Amino acid sequence: MDAGSLTVVGTGFGGGGQITADAANAIASSEKVLYLVPDADTDEWIRAANPTSESLGDFYLGRASRFETYLDITEHILSFVRRGLRVCAVFYGHPGVFVFPSHEAIIRAGEEGFTARMLPGVSAEDCLFSDLGVDPGRRGCRTFDATDFLVRRRQPDVTVPLILWQVGAVGRTDYPRDDNRANLAILAEVLLMQYGAGHEVVIYEAAFGPRRDPVIEFICLEQLAEVPIRLISTLYVPPRDEPVIDEQMAARLGMPEDFFPRRIDAASRYRPSRPYAQPKPRPVPGR
Ligand SMILES: C[S@@+](CC[C@H](N)C(=O)[O-])C[C@H]1O[C@@H](n2cnc3c(N)ncnc32)[C@H](O)[C@@H]1O
Repeated sequence: MDAGSLTVVGTGFGGGGQITADAANAIASSEKVLYLVPDADTDEWIRAANPTSESLGDFYLGRASRFETYLDITEHILSFVRRGLRVCAVFYGHPGVFVFPSHEAIIRAGEEGFTARMLPGVSAEDCLFSDLGVDPGRRGCRTFDATDFLVRRRQPDVTVPLILWQVGAVGRTDYPRDDNRANLAILAEVLLMQYGAGHEVVIYEAAFGPRRDPVIEFICLEQLAEVPIRLISTLYVPPRDEPVIDEQMAARLGMPEDFFPRRIDAASRYRPSRPYAQPKPRPVPGR
């Protein structure tokens, strides 16, 4: 029997267009492909690339616990590796960003003596950086799961952009199909204490495909529990204040005195009226 192996890849959000050449190669050349993607275009792309492809979507049906679903998916992936097959597990976005079964399958496969690796992909955060014009190099960037942000009492730093994932499932251990207003109200309450009333945030959804537009909805924090938020929504909280510069530290590092003022000037020249630009609708070829 051949030694099984596992390659985990991501599809990004482009309906197939953000799949890297390495990921496409891994999908096409594997003996079994198992995939979890939310859109029909990517689903179609994967099936066309490899006839052994099998969706993992049914693992979510009728389940009470998301965590049990993740463990079952992990075991299902490994069952094909243990049969000696070259397996490719495909997840949307980056396969290692907010994906439990991908990391878990690689760890377990390694422990059982199989070769296992992950290839990078385009995550929702990468799309957000492009669509909202956020460069983590300017102010840093804090990124948390929304539930983790609340229950671990993450300390506020209102000078740094904040990205909260899985806001549509905040505080939920199941796969929510109802409206989760109560927990969103709690999230809004905590953010309001940190940022104050009137702070504008963005409900963001990357476009699933080159012919679609992203969802970019500006709201005030007070409205968080009132507007539609879906399981694919990510919340972007822009910084409220300018960061403080420790001039003594800058001097200790031997930096020129005018380095930061010059950089701040340069940044403000490019700053639109809002801290991020609204993208224009993308032209649709042939329309
Ligand atoms: C299970 S994680 C999957 C993340 C994915 N692996 C990635 O790399 O972006 C699901 C969370 O990702 C974010 N997400 C998924 N699809 C998105 C989209 N189209 N736009 C923005 N965020 C999205 C949301 O925060 C959602 O709750």
